[in-house]
Amino acid sequence: MADTNKKATLSIGNESYDLPILSPTEGPDVVDVRKLYGQADVFTYDPGFTSTASCDSAITYIDGEEGILLHRGYPIDQLAEKSHFLEVCYLLLYGELPTAAQLEDFESRVTNHTMVHEQMHRFFTGFRRDAHPMAIMTGVVGAMSAFYHDSTDIHDPWHREVASIRLIAKMPTIAAMAYKYSIGQPFVYPRNDLDFAGNFLRMCFSVPAEDYQVNPILSRAMDRIFTLHADHEQNASTSTVRLASSSGANPFACIAAGIACLWGPAHGGANQAALESLKEIGTPDRIPEMLARAKDKDDPFRLMGFGHRVYKNFDPRAKVMKQSADEVLDLLGVENNPILAVAKEVEKQALADDYFVDRKLFPNVDFYSGIILEAMGFPTSMFTPIFAVSRTVGWVSQWKEMIEDPAMKIGRPRQLYTGPSQRDYVDVENR
Ligand code: CMC
Repeated sequence: MADTNKKATLSIGNESYDLPILSPTEGPDVVDVRKLYGQADVFTYDPGFTSTASCDSAITYIDGEEGILLHRGYPIDQLAEKSHFLEVCYLLLYGELPTAAQLEDFESRVTNHTMVHEQMHRFFTGFRRDAHPMAIMTGVVGAMSAFYHDSTDIHDPWHREVASIRLIAKMPTIAAMAYKYSIGQPFVYPRNDLDFAGNFLRMCFSVPAEDYQVNPILSRAMDRIFTLHADHEQNASTSTVRLASSSGANPFACIAAGIACLWGPAHGGANQAALESLKEIGTPDRIPEMLARAKDKDDPFRLMGFGHRVYKNFDPRAKVMKQSADEVLDLLGVENNPILAVAKEVEKQALADDYFVDRKLFPNVDFYSGIILEAMGFPTSMFTPIFAVSRTVGWVSQWKEMIEDPAMKIGRPRQLYTGPSQRDYVDVENR
């Protein structure tokens, strides 16, 4: 972040204030208002952070107008095609692509942390069988703080490193256990000879009574879903993790806060909601009726999997996801999948409709991911937990970046107070 020598001038009454303008490596300049309150006794007002940078970060860059997503400078489509999830994890965490030796070491460290403390198994049995896996994950990940005391000192670089690896490694195990618990099957322990995605598929779909062979094409598709969701700069759950961590709270508690935020249907819950919407539409003839509902301001219905706060163009992740959907359904021999056909037709009709065109509403990453996950055998309730497994590395990388910044401060937004002015207490008999 460089000071540009350019200034913005803010006039209030007869006074004017010069505000420095900072220049990022990519994207629009940023007006630095940090000293504004001290100088001018005013705050800025920006609910939803639509014009406000909450931090500086060197991890991920999005150009929403152009539909570009870069991790440490590398475009997501190149990473999805040529790299794989654990390599992208390394890139996000440490800033550069690993050498072969660094990658081998990193993969081995993650693999050796995939088991969870045996006593954690008992946590699961405390939940109702019909609990949503995200509810279970919020609780169990928060509880990791109670099991891994030796990696909760955020001021110790080694603790931070071990906590990061543990979170990335154990999240698939926890998500798979939440799934197994919900269907009444025994937990499946991780296996160190499988790769990250293959291991997750096996923990979800194998049973002790039968051998399970990981299909390499499905495992590649799973890995790509993890890669596409790995990080997305300062989205709601990442900002939640940063805000929670800014108080000095331990990483496991903070990632649990991120999981809670991700669950919402406007964020990670959209993949479940998108598939449910497509199923509700059911057949192409019902698309115009559903689009009319999505456009009707008196109807709360929204076309899930469409629209994005930052992308005002095709979400680059959705392009890869759409291609993956075709590949996976082909592989599984699901020709002419009616939901994929409905999805493609919804996309076509929406992109030809002035309402969606004027508002720049395009399919986002969640529009096609549910179709792939369902074809793989996952119930809709597992879609958001899978998003959480992928996004853990983004949360952890952003958390580490923030904690390692010597200028870190506790996050404490200001407000535009609209309540009553000071008044005197009235005794109950006089009200
Ligand atoms: N269907 C119908 N109308 C929509 C939709 C939609 N999916 N999304 C936005 N709009 C309209 C909205 O009603 C508003 O119209 P108007 O200007 O007439 O009032 C306009 O488009 C702008 O919408 P907004 O809600 O002000 O935009 P936002 O940036 O606050 O919201 C969003 C972004 C993602 C929450 C929203 O587009 C949405 O709810 N989409 C559906 C949920 C979804 O797919 N979320 C997943 C996002 S990608 C995964 C992730 O990163 O978490």
